[in-house]
Amino acid sequence: MSQNTLTITDNRTGKTYELPIKNGTIRAMDLRQIKVDAEDFGMMTYDPAFTNTASCISKITYIDGDRGILMYRGYPIEELAEKSSYLETSYLVLHGELPTRAQLDEWTWNITHHTFIHESIRKFLDGFHYDAHPMGILISTVAALSTFYKDAKNIFDPESRRKQTFRLIGKMPTLSAFAYRHSLGMPLAYPDNDLSYAGNFLNMLFRTTEAKYKPNPVLEHALDVLFILHADHEQNCSANAMRSVGSSHVDPYSAIAAATAALYGPLHGGANEEVLLMLREIGSVKNVPDYIKRVKAKEKLLMGFGHRVYKNYDPRAKIIKKIAYDVFEVMGKNPLIDIALECERIALSDDYFISHKLYPNVDFYSGLIYEAMGFPASMFTALFAIGRTSGWIAQWQELLLDPEQKIARPRQVYLGYDKRSYIPIDHR
Ligand code: SDX
Repeated sequence: MSQNTLTITDNRTGKTYELPIKNGTIRAMDLRQIKVDAEDFGMMTYDPAFTNTASCISKITYIDGDRGILMYRGYPIEELAEKSSYLETSYLVLHGELPTRAQLDEWTWNITHHTFIHESIRKFLDGFHYDAHPMGILISTVAALSTFYKDAKNIFDPESRRKQTFRLIGKMPTLSAFAYRHSLGMPLAYPDNDLSYAGNFLNMLFRTTEAKYKPNPVLEHALDVLFILHADHEQNCSANAMRSVGSSHVDPYSAIAAATAALYGPLHGGANEEVLLMLREIGSVKNVPDYIKRVKAKEKLLMGFGHRVYKNYDPRAKIIKKIAYDVFEVMGKNPLIDIALECERIALSDDYFISHKLYPNVDFYSGLIYEAMGFPASMFTALFAIGRTSGWIAQWQELLLDPEQKIARPRQVYLGYDKRSYIPIDHR
């Protein structure tokens, strides 16, 4: 009997099966041979929410949840946050290697020159109410881009994928900033190609009457690091949406719209907005113990805490917590930080959180920085989406190029009615 196998005995039949183990997994399809008789469909696994199912082989991001480790293509997130830039990191996430200077210059030039959007998109914006949530606008307008770039359907043409990648990474900030300006009733501020990626985003958000917007370098750097921290996170809910929708071979704009919609949820990227609303609801440090009581009574979730993979402190949260103070130096301290720190202090010493392995995740502190930078809470998840766009495209591309992948179509366990006859309405 070789070491790399799993021996399964089906006690219903007494039969024994030996399944190969590879990369710490067995292939679910190898279970289908386990049957009670020839009529039997064969054994499946039942795994709601895929809590213990690997859907793909990936080389993009590695997370060790127990040790709080996150690496993009083998580079620790702490090093990238300290030494890299978002555009360099997006190149790494997408290409697998850090760029040479010439490669980075070309990458930066191409993305910078794809920040404008078709003027017709403004008609979409005008159709939204002034208080439309920016994520609702972003989902709609990024999907609409698929109608402007018909070449995007050529998903197996590397040159087409490259061009859509420039457009998506270049235009997500523009679409997000336009949504923000629409919500304020302010005229749109167009891209300025002389500025950095983060600097231009600040320009499109906050430029008013000045001819040339000058981003505050501390805020520009803080935002660039936040984009790095959000670039990818292996098979999270929105990456799974990107892969699942992408597996039908739809264009990348439609797939990114689906991923953006998944991120919008309060349990996923929408949590950064929920954290701010929660801290405002708590209102003061003295109210924290009562709120924690309600969380332990399962009346509330402590938003920004917990994670499917991290059973330790999210390494991104640690970095964000440090950046917060750089931003507060410039913009003034966000008073909600004291409530957040008290939530963390109590939670990290309370048995409920320790036993449930609930630690701050990426969303716990990010909203505090965004708010201190002048963003309304409704923009927080759009900021997450901008950073994550490079990861979504990398996951989508890896799926397309993986010979083992095909259209995603899970099975089910059917426990519904057996066959029955139609009942005329007068006899019901
Ligand atoms: C992101 O997947 C990713 O990588 C996502 C992300 C990324 O970069 O893409 O990291 C970004 O989405 C971060 C997560 C942001 N969401 C939140 O902060 C929302 C609050 N967190 C929870 O909703 C929850 O922790 C999840 C959704 C993040 C994880 O949920 P799981 O893994 O499905 O865990 P669960 O809901 O089954 O909870 C397990 C237990 C439960 O208690 P019991 O029934 O076992 O007694 O822990 C409890 C839960 O009630 N629990 C919490 C809690 N999170 C889990 N209790 C209080 N507060 C919380 N936040």
